[in-house]
Amino acid sequence: HAQLKPFPQAFLWGAASAAYQVEGAWNVDGKGPSVWDTFTKIPGTTFEGSNGDVAVDHYHRMEEDVALMAEMGLKAYRFSVSWPRIFPSGRGTPNEAGLAFYERLIDALLARGIEPVLTLYHWDMPQALQDEYGGWESRRIIDDFEHYCVTLYQRFAGKVKYWVSLNEQNYNLTNAYQLGTHPPAVQDRKRFFAANHIAFLANARAIKAFRQHVPHGLIGPSFAYSPAYPASSAPSDMLAFENAEELTNYWWLDAYCLGRYPLAALNWLREQGEAPEILPGDMALLAEGKPDYIGVNYYYTLTFTDNPLGGQGLARINTTGKKGTTPSSGIPGLYKTVPNPHLETSNWDWAIDSTGMRIALRRLASRYALPLMITENGLGEFDQLGEGDQVHDDYRIAYLKSHLHACQQAMQDGVELLGYCAWSFTDILSWLNGYQKRYGFVYVDRDEQGGSLRRIRKESFFWYQQVIKAGHLLD
Ligand code: BG6
Repeated sequence: HAQLKPFPQAFLWGAASAAYQVEGAWNVDGKGPSVWDTFTKIPGTTFEGSNGDVAVDHYHRMEEDVALMAEMGLKAYRFSVSWPRIFPSGRGTPNEAGLAFYERLIDALLARGIEPVLTLYHWDMPQALQDEYGGWESRRIIDDFEHYCVTLYQRFAGKVKYWVSLNEQNYNLTNAYQLGTHPPAVQDRKRFFAANHIAFLANARAIKAFRQHVPHGLIGPSFAYSPAYPASSAPSDMLAFENAEELTNYWWLDAYCLGRYPLAALNWLREQGEAPEILPGDMALLAEGKPDYIGVNYYYTLTFTDNPLGGQGLARINTTGKKGTTPSSGIPGLYKTVPNPHLETSNWDWAIDSTGMRIALRRLASRYALPLMITENGLGEFDQLGEGDQVHDDYRIAYLKSHLHACQQAMQDGVELLGYCAWSFTDILSWLNGYQKRYGFVYVDRDEQGGSLRRIRKESFFWYQQVIKAGHLLD
């Protein structure tokens, strides 16, 4: 890589997690239930009924986990705060034990020179607010979310510089209101766009409040960006690709960063009677709540072809870990997905495409003129704990290396990239896929039934340690 400019000195070499996926301690120290605590107990919702009651017990092993981060040399650690740990019923007086846990975590990170990147919302809505007014479906959440955010701003403004507002609103709400695979498991496109509009307003209000309380910090949403490709150069495929980019990506990104919705998509939704209700003042609020940077969660590209009326509608995602089982998914009349014959896939049918990451970063930096941070990127696979506690995850090293190389190329192309948080630090609970789909640099000895929860450094741990130490990719 001699011809490429080196990674900047201040580059945030990081790794990431989310509260529900690592903490466990689901009902400890005053925490209230989240929608995930409830949903995962409903038979048939997750792989072998797995849930985050214990997860990888990070709540009780935080010191050990941070010590491993320090050993690895991490410069940044992205984690999320569990809203119902702070407000057991969603609002009111904060639970001091919850705040104290995150304060201990933040202090432990800072003491080791690791920059905390704090995500305000990674899907674990307080169950109380879901019950009371339907969560994201009510405008009442805008005030409650702001109150929760301001509580964290006031407590941590002096310690945390980098903040993420909403994590993957697009992916979470697609599952929640279109596929019916995340709580509240609804399949209704009108309600989907209505909930998204309210989430945009909540995001903007939280960012506006941030300016006042954390004037020297940076905040932005993390977006699950799967750049669209056309299946061919046929104009019909090009049009399908344009439709998909607007309705699966720019709908969110334009709302966050430009304070407006993309034209053709909005028009199409109006024709369907599925456009969100836009009240006076809404668009002005979106315009006032623009982010400082875009958090990019990149895993794969998607390839689209045309889809005549009567064709394929939305389909479930692959939760089996068996290759070739993901059906095509789309909107009749607009687009549908097809496998990309040029790309290898993971066991969950996720296309492995490092060039797609370079394209993703360039599209975003060019369209929105904002700095970017990779807030997630990684490979979920079955890992084997071998003889002598070895985990030989060379496939993960290859994935991470090629994607980091793509980041470097994107920076050479002119993209301002603040950092790269690999998903994930330790193994985690993969929401619908249980503990079998592993992402971590650190293996956690547990499966759906449980386990010792022992931490074991994988081969990728030592590889990333070397990269961080050198500050560049080693050949
Ligand atoms: C993102 C989420 O969707 O990708 C993470 O922000 C998640 O929480 C990750 O774990 C990988 O997805 P999955 O379904 O393989 O766990």
